[in-house]
Amino acid sequence: MSAFLVRGGRELSGTVRVGGAKNSALKLVAAALLAEGRSVIRNVPDIMDMAAMAAVLRELGVTVTADDDVYVLDVPSEVGNSTPAHLVKRLRASLVVLGPLLARCGRVRVAQPGGCNLGSRGIDMHLSGLERLGATITYGEDYVEAEADRLVGADLELPYASVGATENLLMAAVTAKGTTRIMNAAREPEIADLAAYLTSMGAQVGGAGTSQIAIHGVTRLSPANHVVVPDRIEAGTYAAAAALAGGEVKVDAVVPGHLRMALSKLRALGVEIDEGDGHLVVHGPLRATGNPRRLRAVDIVTLPYPGFPTDLQPQLLVLLSQAHGSSMLTENVFDGRFSVVDQLRLMGADITLEGHHAIVRGARLLRGAPVRATDLRAGAALVLAGLVAEGETVVAEPHHVDRGYSDFATRLRALGADVERTDLH
Ligand code: EPU
Repeated sequence: MSAFLVRGGRELSGTVRVGGAKNSALKLVAAALLAEGRSVIRNVPDIMDMAAMAAVLRELGVTVTADDDVYVLDVPSEVGNSTPAHLVKRLRASLVVLGPLLARCGRVRVAQPGGCNLGSRGIDMHLSGLERLGATITYGEDYVEAEADRLVGADLELPYASVGATENLLMAAVTAKGTTRIMNAAREPEIADLAAYLTSMGAQVGGAGTSQIAIHGVTRLSPANHVVVPDRIEAGTYAAAAALAGGEVKVDAVVPGHLRMALSKLRALGVEIDEGDGHLVVHGPLRATGNPRRLRAVDIVTLPYPGFPTDLQPQLLVLLSQAHGSSMLTENVFDGRFSVVDQLRLMGADITLEGHHAIVRGARLLRGAPVRATDLRAGAALVLAGLVAEGETVVAEPHHVDRGYSDFATRLRALGADVERTDLH
């Protein structure tokens, strides 16, 4: 059994380079299914979720060659239209093949992902949107099937700005007959990235990145090349690490504009951040100089983009635990996203949960403890907590972190942290 072993108290400094966005790359490679031929996607992060997605694509008949951060995808004239349960279980995001496969094959069957550790995560908006585009949906015991000879454009009003539903419906609509409008669409930068790729494949998409997307269906798409947008959540995670335990840390290869709300909350906490062209410089508390900047309590509410991202919530919870005063953090996106709280309490954090609110009484001394990564972002947050904890923190189940962070321990170590991957006996 492996774990992250973190010895706290080291100051971070230096430069960390961020990779391509997990939550874009996963969808871009699914979009490649829409066109026969070779697509090349660059700046793909080296993470377990991408390996799982590559397995899904191979199952569908795509030849996937991954070399460093370049994915070469050779999509055959006939692709499979069914994803097996064991792969969907491994990667819920693989549901994003629903839209492109329905558009490409006229029929698709995906295993039902079931519950997962972020609480209830429905796909009702994906399915009712596809139905509005003319698909017939059939529910099996452990799968869902969608079928349509050719989808027909329609006005789709999402009851909630779901990222996954926006992406699936966008990919289904690009070759539908006529015009589709997605109202109350998700506005995440990853949606704009997907739309840019689809456009270079020949799709006609307007308004991606705003809450109304218009898609004029075309009959055929061609393969295309694309560079994945930088990972704003990976960037925000390193910025949070620096805010906790810097020194001066440069977070490179980012789009600062994609982190607007996160940076505003970090600044409200008292963290000094300089923004440059494609990078951030975060000035941490400078413990080593004996002149620590004090973090101040601040309230945070997670919301769809451009609101504060739920994917940075656990990391910011750690910062709030070190801030002077009481903060309230409200989670609006996933009902299971406070799983990190019990683990942080084991380390000495003072956090009370009331429904979807966490009340954090700050400036508590964290002590190293054996804890467990309950999901991807929780795992990253616990490693960050370990950076400022007294003594040794052992974060078990590090595979959750591998799903979304490339070489997390190595990169933190390059900044001066004492973090390693170790085998527990
Ligand atoms: N929802 C429904 N029905 C639907 C669709 C969504 O009830 O048909 C609910 C979900 O249950 C959830 C909320 O709406 O409570 C948000 O879901 P959304 O569809 O927006 O998120 P997602 O597509 O499942 C993506 C990211 C998440 C990220 C969210 C929000 C990927 C692969 N995943 O999930 O990333 O938190 O958007 O920004 O893109 C992560 O990277 O750690 C992660 C969980």
